[in-house]
Amino acid sequence: MDNNKITKRDTSKKKFPDGFYWGAATASYQVEGGIDNCDWAEAARAERVPVCDRACDHRHRYEEDFDLASELGHNAHRFSVEWASIEPEEGKWNMDEIEHYRKVLNALRARNIKPFITIWHFTLPLWFTESGGFERKDAPEIFARYAAFVVEQLGDLCDHFSTMNEPNVVGSNGWLRGSWPPFKRFALTDLISITNSGRSYEARSRRGLKPLFLYFRVMKNLATAHNQAYKAIKKVSPDTEVSVVKHVIVFAANWNPFNKIKAAFANYSWTSIFMNRTHKHCDSIGLNYYFYTQFGDKRKWRKTDMDWNFAPDHIYDALMRLSKYKKPLFVSESGLADDDDSDRAEYIKKQIEGTWRAIQDGADVRGHLYWSLMDNYEWALGFEKRFGLIEIDYDTLERKIRPSAYVYKEIIKNNAID
Ligand code: BGC
Repeated sequence: MDNNKITKRDTSKKKFPDGFYWGAATASYQVEGGIDNCDWAEAARAERVPVCDRACDHRHRYEEDFDLASELGHNAHRFSVEWASIEPEEGKWNMDEIEHYRKVLNALRARNIKPFITIWHFTLPLWFTESGGFERKDAPEIFARYAAFVVEQLGDLCDHFSTMNEPNVVGSNGWLRGSWPPFKRFALTDLISITNSGRSYEARSRRGLKPLFLYFRVMKNLATAHNQAYKAIKKVSPDTEVSVVKHVIVFAANWNPFNKIKAAFANYSWTSIFMNRTHKHCDSIGLNYYFYTQFGDKRKWRKTDMDWNFAPDHIYDALMRLSKYKKPLFVSESGLADDDDSDRAEYIKKQIEGTWRAIQDGADVRGHLYWSLMDNYEWALGFEKRFGLIEIDYDTLERKIRPSAYVYKEIIKNNAID
């Protein structure tokens, strides 16, 4: 990243560094449509998650969508490429897909929009998951080979690649909560009920603790996969900037020392363990921020349509937490579901204010990408939740810019907030 940071506090203007990247983010499966050979498509066929089908048909309408991004003043855009489409069979590359993503990149370049590519955003090829996915011992090598291939093929059109999106969300939803593929679940309550059911000790621990051990294995493999991908990418393209996109939950506490210990432990397990394992293999770090939660909190929070606390300003804490790794940062995602667009403009202003404060306090933040450019498939919740700056009519696929997108546009134009 080549923009400079502002070091002096200037509260009158709240200016951002020159060359700051402004834009929005999407992910392949959530917007493209027509992807049917990945684990999420398979889970939809098994009726375990909603069907994605043609999604926003971004696959065929990316030019139109980038025109809208351009009209909204965006100078950066984060999107992901689909592993299942690029490597539909183990070790076999689909060059038509590469050609497609080259066109997408050229369309961004033609509009002077800097691309940030995510190499893997949640969905996995079926051949990979059916053979164990990230539980596989050799998963890091397989992932690194794919990552290096992507950069080799697209690296002349894009200089920033994130290896993976939100590894902790993948691990916890897939192996602890069991709400996402591969739907493995670990809950303390299961352990207790098994303990009370009087089976043999071996049977109890096998059934009860196995998912927990698998979760730890997957988390370790994900960190190793990132590190190996970093090295493999650097071999094929030493100048490419490589980041990881980290979901940070801000865990805080009230006055109670017990709650403070809980918060410290939660921050450590959710954010520090993964980042301690990977930060040496990051040229920069992307922050996905959505959650602030305080142990011992008695306040009644205003909620977003996802029933998440409306706490955009606490993006500050998330950025300050990541800034201790002393790398350039960028906000790779932050946003809210807001069906009638009544809260989005305020959310955007406050999250950008929080980002600005973090810069004043030393965080080297280089860009801000709102989630999401357009409404899309919100994973296990289907299409009902609306995160977009652009509204999608799923019957006609008509796009409509929401009023809040123009508030964001004004901030971008001024490269500053009031
Ligand atoms: C993910 C997105 C998702 C968004 C809103 C992030 O965790 O990267 O894919 O749609 O949050 O839930």
